[in-house]
Amino acid sequence: MAPGLLFTDQHGDVAQLHGVGIRRYDGVFYAWGEDKTHGGAFGGVACYSSPDLATWTFLGHALAVDGAVPDLAPGRVIERPKVLRSAAGTYVMLLHVESADYGYARVGWAISDRPEGPYTYLHSERPLGNISRDIGVFMDDDGTGYLLSEDREHGLHVYRLAPDLLSVEEIVSTTLTPPSDHPAGPHGYESPTMVKHDGLYYLFGSDLTGWSTNDNKYATAPSPAGPWSEWRDFAPPGSATYDSQVSVVVPVAGSETTSHVYAGDRWSRDDLYHSAPVWLPMRIQDGRAELEWRDTWTIDPATGVIS
Ligand code: GAL
Repeated sequence: MAPGLLFTDQHGDVAQLHGVGIRRYDGVFYAWGEDKTHGGAFGGVACYSSPDLATWTFLGHALAVDGAVPDLAPGRVIERPKVLRSAAGTYVMLLHVESADYGYARVGWAISDRPEGPYTYLHSERPLGNISRDIGVFMDDDGTGYLLSEDREHGLHVYRLAPDLLSVEEIVSTTLTPPSDHPAGPHGYESPTMVKHDGLYYLFGSDLTGWSTNDNKYATAPSPAGPWSEWRDFAPPGSATYDSQVSVVVPVAGSETTSHVYAGDRWSRDDLYHSAPVWLPMRIQDGRAELEWRDTWTIDPATGVIS
């Protein structure tokens, strides 16, 4: 793959892997992305599968526009679809559910018995009453699920989910940017994602600059409850994360090594459909995360080796 170049599916159409969530089930990568056919308005959650994160097969809409459901109606905004599988085997999709003016600020849930869906939409809410815009999810080794959610009144929250993943139980930690980082003062990073490597938790996020890119940051902690380190750069400062916004960091465990793949968005605000994926290898080691620029690269899904 080549960062900045669009992926196409088996039909030659631009893969709608925007704001993507990625999981690997039975050796197959599944990706759920925002279908930007209608620009910023909800165009469905597109689902794709891949053997190697480079070749994508469109499996249809996991969640489609539905005029009969107010949250899924034409003209609404739904972003950052993220899926986890519960211990009972249910695929649970969490979503940033919005109104066109971004005032709704809720998390939505949908479920299916297959990764590709179709998913049944359940409901949306403000978790524990808090504003929730960009989201991410994380599942720990013991099966505990977490929702990562940007609440600009309080910061970036890590919420523990109930065992069935269908509700929020409590906030385990909340983080803020350094106060000097923004004229508006302390706030939480957005577009969050988390991985665990060698017993350490790595939390990634972007500053709040809308479709414009910025120097994304990461923090580390011994537990999702923290205490979190200071936020640091993982790409060269000033590069605006190689002109991209983190969507998800995917661990790829193989027979030789566990590699990490950064999947980011380079948004084209006037043509969101053609926003380019910027996907790169990320080196995560000894408490440090570093994005490595490559013009082209591949990952061997069996060994985990990147070349
Ligand atoms: C960004 C966010 C995107 C989208 C955009 C709209 O801050 O990460 O997912 O909501 O704002 O302006």
